[in-house]
Amino acid sequence: MAEYDFDVLVIGAGPGGYVAAIRAAQLGLKTACAESRETLGGTCLNVGCIPSKALLNASEKFDEAVSGVLAKHGVKLSGVELDLSVMMADKDKAVSGLTGGIEYLFKKNKVEWVKGLATFQDAHTVQVGDRTVTAKNIVIATGSSVTPLPGVQIDQKVVVDSTGALTLEKVPEHLVVIGGGVIGLELGSVWKRLGAKVTVVEYLDQLLPGMDGEVRKEAAKIFKKQGMDLKLSTKVTGVAVDGGRATVTVEPAVGGAAETLEADAVLVAIGRRPNTEGLGLDKIGLQLNQRGQIETDHDFRTAVDGVWAIGDVIPGPMLAHKAEDEGVAVAENIAGLTGIVNHDVIPGVVYTHPEIAGVGLTEEQAKERGEIKVGKFPMMANSRAKAIDDTAGFVKVIADAKSDRVLGVWIITSVAGTMIAQAAQAMEFGATSEDIAYTCHAHPTHSEAIKEAAMAVQGKPIHM
Ligand code: FAD
Ligand code: NAI
Repeated sequence: MAEYDFDVLVIGAGPGGYVAAIRAAQLGLKTACAESRETLGGTCLNVGCIPSKALLNASEKFDEAVSGVLAKHGVKLSGVELDLSVMMADKDKAVSGLTGGIEYLFKKNKVEWVKGLATFQDAHTVQVGDRTVTAKNIVIATGSSVTPLPGVQIDQKVVVDSTGALTLEKVPEHLVVIGGGVIGLELGSVWKRLGAKVTVVEYLDQLLPGMDGEVRKEAAKIFKKQGMDLKLSTKVTGVAVDGGRATVTVEPAVGGAAETLEADAVLVAIGRRPNTEGLGLDKIGLQLNQRGQIETDHDFRTAVDGVWAIGDVIPGPMLAHKAEDEGVAVAENIAGLTGIVNHDVIPGVVYTHPEIAGVGLTEEQAKERGEIKVGKFPMMANSRAKAIDDTAGFVKVIADAKSDRVLGVWIITSVAGTMIAQAAQAMEFGATSEDIAYTCHAHPTHSEAIKEAAMAVQGKPIHM
């Protein structure tokens, strides 16, 4: 009889966990995945990436139809109406299609879904509901959840987190968003497009921490122009709810006179924190770092033999594609292969309009490390963007002054999320800006702006 029930037990079926489980099974390992949710796919598929992108897409279409922008292109519409319940049902369909798809992939790859909340008994034994499961290797992929704001009670009706903001039953007149990060801007954009007045309260002096400084400033300009009210360098000191309305008290981050904002919905989006509570990590002697994360080595091994960890629960950006790549790598490492993730080349995308994307170093980080050259190209000079009258944004390529190796690429334009893949691939292959500048790009495409920004690093763009 085998020593353990499984070669691999993955805890959590988000993009990290379900990918790790499928890859492990593909590599011939007997694999199970414990998941406490009713459906597979984790935060990303159920209440994150997928429903938010479905609503971003639908709300953009509505906004185009009602804002009169289509009339400029000769498309006249009248009597446009919002049917929020149909929009929500459509979003739910996208979610169930994809979560069902993971269930199908589990069956196809013979991954057993152990339903329930997993708690360690020892480093090779986990209790899932009333079942005890043993495995030679256990991968913790429990993800993250919303960081609460002390003193602010989330009721998912008036005061919501991202999950509640994906299911509001009516368009709020005034939505106050606490936190000008990715969630605040994406979900703020959704409700703004559907007709809400949106005020974003951000503690720092700019939106989108972690992104390139120039990109952050340009983003603020763009969102202001779209009509979002941005209260930067401002902190929320309290939210009082009464009769379905909220009074949000804010004051300057450095202290000063308080003011109040009346709102009928408040979205708390001040970050996410790793899910480790109730996992029984004390039973296996696994310590968390100061940020509550599980530390691993380069192979995703934790300090406890046989226990591995990936995704939002470990350090690094909390992104689905980072979790997925770590899922593949950890399975390969467990199988005795060499699974690697290059954490220096993880793209990030904000799916607003325009999209905002980056990969590698910001200009500020690159300057700290040595001499650099920077090339910029405005979308205003890109023929495709001009042809479709969508010219906001720019591409910026940052290269090492001596070697010309590309260190970072930042893009603001409608299809930045798609374009950034080219930059990531170039960086993964160790490309120079000259390599990009001399690569033939199809015309007319937004991607030509990457080529031109690379030419600008060389000092010789054509169309500027
Ligand atoms: P998760 O997806 O959080 O999955 C962890 C799973 O583990 C959960 O299903 C949970 O139920 C389960 N679990 C936890 N503890 C236990 C336990 N003890 N026993 C059993 N099961 C357990 N990222 C992007 O890259 N692109 C986007 O567009 C994007 N949009 C987002 C939009 C929103 C609104 C949010 C909230 C997040 C978004 N993200 C996006 C982030 C992305 O969702 C996460 O980075 C990603 O889901 C992390 O994957 P994971 O596998 O580490 O964890
Ligand atoms: P975030 O870290 O992106 O932004 C949080 C913002 O809140 C920051 O700007 C921070 O300065 C601000 N803040 C913190 N405390 C505050 C306070 N008390 N008052 C006012 N502002 C305050 O976190 P967010 O938006 O909650 O998203 C969580 C994570 O989910 C992201 O970091 C990202 O990894 C992931 N995500 C990714 C998406 C994508 O890839 N498109 C989309 C949505 C989420």
